[in-house]
Amino acid sequence: MDQNELKIPQHVAIIMDGNGRWAKKRHMPRTFGHAQGARVLEQTLEDCSDLGVKYLTVYAFSTENWARPFEEVQVIMNLFRDYLISAVDKCNRNNVRCMVIGERSRLSQDIIDSINNLENATKDNTGITFIVAINYGSRDEIVRAVNSISREVQEGNIQPGEITAETIEQYLDTRGIPDPDLLIRTSGEERLSNFLMWQLAYTEFYFTDTAWPDFDKNELLKAFEKYSSRDRRYGKVK
Ligand code: FPP
Repeated sequence: MDQNELKIPQHVAIIMDGNGRWAKKRHMPRTFGHAQGARVLEQTLEDCSDLGVKYLTVYAFSTENWARPFEEVQVIMNLFRDYLISAVDKCNRNNVRCMVIGERSRLSQDIIDSINNLENATKDNTGITFIVAINYGSRDEIVRAVNSISREVQEGNIQPGEITAETIEQYLDTRGIPDPDLLIRTSGEERLSNFLMWQLAYTEFYFTDTAWPDFDKNELLKAFEKYSSRDRRYGKVK
């Protein structure tokens, strides 16, 4: 495709799937795949930023992932620990604003502190916004939003019957962030797995058989090419 015809999505969301299978194929523990996945994620953030993407949201740990073997959960949490600390300087050097979505109270206190520190240290950066979903589930996010709205109604701040889609958006973890334009899921799986169900209402989906640890700039460009050829009508007739 001619570079001039390439449309760059403003907001890209990614379900980074296939780390475990990728490692198994190489006779390595699943956690080896997660470590490689973390490296690929850093490169993808850089590639998205270079190409002019404004928001990148990634599904790093779901509310369901706690059911994995304890050691695997621990390795993933340690990857977050390392990342959240090293990201402060890296994001500031590259003008990246970093945010975390998901329910935090189940995370270790040191991880919660690192998240708060990273968000605060990068909040004024004006380049790409990098959003990491940790202990995130769309149903959980919506349940938390409904509970918060109910409290506002009880306190008389919101009138019953006046709740709109905009009200609900204000209570989601993603408040203030435009909806994703493109969702990429790697490794051959074609489902949403409780990721951003409200926000993906009009998003274009792109599925690839490539496992997350093998994902690269070429794959990203393939997804953008496919996205460029789609006709987004938002339910209207053109
Ligand atoms: C999905 O592959 C991957 C995950 C559940 C973990 C994602 C985590 C990372 C990429 C690393 C760390 C992220 C940061 C922000 C540093 P899978 O394990 O479900 O693979 P499988 O389907 O082959 O089993």
